[in-house]
Amino acid sequence: MSITIEEQKKRAAEAALEYVGKLPSGAVIGVGTGSTANHFIDGLRDFSRHLDGAVASSQASQERLQAAGIEVMDLNMTGTLPLYVDGADESNAALQLIKGGGGALTREKIVAAASETFVCIVDESKKVEQLGAFALPVEVLPMARSYVARQIVALGGDPELRESFVTDNGNYILDISDMDLYDPCTVEAKLNQLPGVLTVGLFAQRPADILMVAHSDGTVSVETV
Ligand code: 5RP
Repeated sequence: MSITIEEQKKRAAEAALEYVGKLPSGAVIGVGTGSTANHFIDGLRDFSRHLDGAVASSQASQERLQAAGIEVMDLNMTGTLPLYVDGADESNAALQLIKGGGGALTREKIVAAASETFVCIVDESKKVEQLGAFALPVEVLPMARSYVARQIVALGGDPELRESFVTDNGNYILDISDMDLYDPCTVEAKLNQLPGVLTVGLFAQRPADILMVAHSDGTVSVETV
């Protein structure tokens, strides 16, 4: 019997809670955004006394964490975090990711960068040979939207403004299709250096450290590089 994608997300999230349990008490962890991360947040309710708190990667996760009884902290006050747990839109074998389907990529990338271990939790549909079937989100400052879109076209991509969407930081998202992501680190660097780009949803230079993949048969596999 196979389980649904939603159940797979829950299984991956529950498996990641084991990493929380192994932390010394009083730790502060980073927490991502999205439907998979939401299952993780719900499970954190059982760790409210074990943890001192969490840094949230979005307003939505902040509210959910608080509802789960977890204190939300400012990254400027915590220093390096021992653990960051978040979902992804795609992962390749090198644990390089596309993220930002939920539009929270900037804060996600900051919290991932500030964490010692990034545990990424996904259902099996997110595993890909090559990144790029999922449109690559890029957060841009509003005044740079058209300029950045033209530069992306010159780089071979097809950018589309995410309709009626403003990020937690007050910016826009361009979702890029048809971009050749054979060399994700190079594409990440090229897009990063366009004036007006705040964050590229490629997590290639800083990939996940551990990928927990939940499968339709109910098992969860753990990948590292
Ligand atoms: C949000 C993200 C999410 O991690 C990504 O979109 C996956 O979401 P979900 O767990 O709902 O499939 O990057 O910005």
